[in-house]
Amino acid sequence: MRKITTIAIFTGMTLFATGAMAADDAVKMRKEAMKEAKMNFKPLVGMVKGKVPFDLATVKKNAAQIAADLERARKLFPEGTGDGEAKVETRAKPEIWLMKDEFQAAFDNAIKRAKALAAIDSEAAFKPAVMGLGGDGCKACHKKFRLPKKKK
Ligand code: HEC
Repeated sequence: MRKITTIAIFTGMTLFATGAMAADDAVKMRKEAMKEAKMNFKPLVGMVKGKVPFDLATVKKNAAQIAADLERARKLFPEGTGDGEAKVETRAKPEIWLMKDEFQAAFDNAIKRAKALAAIDSEAAFKPAVMGLGGDGCKACHKKFRLPKKKK
């Protein structure tokens, strides 16, 4: 009995995560996940600039959180939610769906870099790992797959 209930719940969740999820919700949720990644990234940039004192525990915690934020975001780009398709504003380029493998590879790379940052054990390793995540992770993907900010 319990098994059947579990399966039913699981199937329901899968439907929610794929077909049944409203496109607009996907756009909103992926933007939220990206914003959270930025919030977690910000103090680390402060540490690189010497504005925030280096703290290994914070680095590890925030980097792990960034990896989770990106894992969440990557599942929120269903077909038909690009710029001009979704009803809500989005800066998602059509290339996301034209070059699916590359887009996913860009997520793989950024998540790998976030996890590598979460695994550092010295201040010496910090700066190159943060710069790698920010530059080759976040920025590289934005350059390829995100439209410039719309002028209001
Ligand atoms: C694999 C590609 C990819 C990676 C990696 C990535 N992003 Fe994004 N990001 C996007 C796309 C695409 C959008 C546009 C989403 C939209 O408008 O629907 C976006 C949007 C954003 C936004 C704007 C959200 C909003 O409210 O409109 C922020 C902030 C952001 N990303 C931060 C980050 C940070 C910080 C990292 C790295 C830790 C990161 N992103 C990594 C693809 C990526």
